[in-house]
Amino acid sequence: MKKLLETLKGKNFKTPPIWLMRQAGRYLPEYREIRKEASNFLELCYNPKLASEITLQPIRRFGFDGAIIFSDILVIPDALGVDVNFVKNIGPQLSKTLKDSDLIKFKEDNILKHLKPVFENIKLVKDGLDDDKTLIGFSGSPWTIATYMIEGGSSKKFDDIRRIAIKDKDFFQKLIDILVNSISIYLIEQIKSGVDVVKIFDSWAGILPESEFKKWVIEPNKKIIQNIKKIYPNIPIILFTKGAGTMYEEVAVNTDCDALAIDQCVSKKWAKDILQNKHNKIIQGNLDNITLTLDVDYALNEVKNILDHFNDKPFIFNLGHGILPDTPIDNVEKIINFIKNYQ
Ligand code: CP3
Repeated sequence: MKKLLETLKGKNFKTPPIWLMRQAGRYLPEYREIRKEASNFLELCYNPKLASEITLQPIRRFGFDGAIIFSDILVIPDALGVDVNFVKNIGPQLSKTLKDSDLIKFKEDNILKHLKPVFENIKLVKDGLDDDKTLIGFSGSPWTIATYMIEGGSSKKFDDIRRIAIKDKDFFQKLIDILVNSISIYLIEQIKSGVDVVKIFDSWAGILPESEFKKWVIEPNKKIIQNIKKIYPNIPIILFTKGAGTMYEEVAVNTDCDALAIDQCVSKKWAKDILQNKHNKIIQGNLDNITLTLDVDYALNEVKNILDHFNDKPFIFNLGHGILPDTPIDNVEKIINFIKNYQ
């Protein structure tokens, strides 16, 4: 029985299923070892043999209930023909998408061909994964991917995209529509290749005020979810609108997602009352990732608090954001043990 998948279908377990956002990565010595084999990060994402091995590493080490395919949200702009580079100690750098003439060059028809290694990766992982483990596919959301495309990489202020989304609305809508279409095609093919669940990462949803949030977070994610559900009505969809605050209620009511991944800044009592009880949504979250890099007793106290709030309804234990590279492995083991013995 796949505990994580069953939870997403509404079952409640005495001890919840566990996986961690960005569970494959630099905090693991076995990842750092494989990482040396590829000169650039995207090469690793497009190597099905290495990517499937990396996907399975945290499952072998910790026995998590879910494996998330090893890839990145920026494979979508890469597939469209944008120049994407991961630069050591800097992060991703992209050629900027700023005007209609940039959009015309996009190769939407190329998505499935370009991302074939990801689908191969899924098939390989599926073969290596025990029957009780859930395989999670993912994509970035239109808004979050667009932030990287317009800002040309990671941003702290998001001034350019915030202005363009208001001032140059027609251009921006066209970009978002292309992303909605590309992401839908990509996620549907991931499901066809064997993932049990998909998750949409809208990591920068929280920077938008209400009216913009509805236009660029609710609407595009809702369209993607509808596109998927038309073909695969029974595949659960987790939506992570990081930083959405009380707008998580809008997400719960207006997007048709099955589960909400909540970040560490959401009040647990509010999420329980509004998201779990009032709207009957499945919650995933929301341990503060920084606590795992510190004294583990502090983290364990937080873990208990999270379980006490959420675990009497279908619930998935996770972090509020990705695991940090300096997280001690021992701390991860300790929280897993604690959760498995939770009464
Ligand atoms: O969860 C997993 O184990 C699967 C792998 C995964 C990665 N990126 C691998 C990765 C997933 C789900 C992502 C999603 C992702 N990528 C997001 C959304 C989630 C979030 O954290 O908000 C975002 C915003 C990105 C974009 C991205 N990728 C950035 C900004 C960076 C550079 C910063 C950093 O952490 O290094 C990446 C690189 C990246 N993606 C790495 C990994 C393991 C590190 C690259 C390396 O090993 O050199």
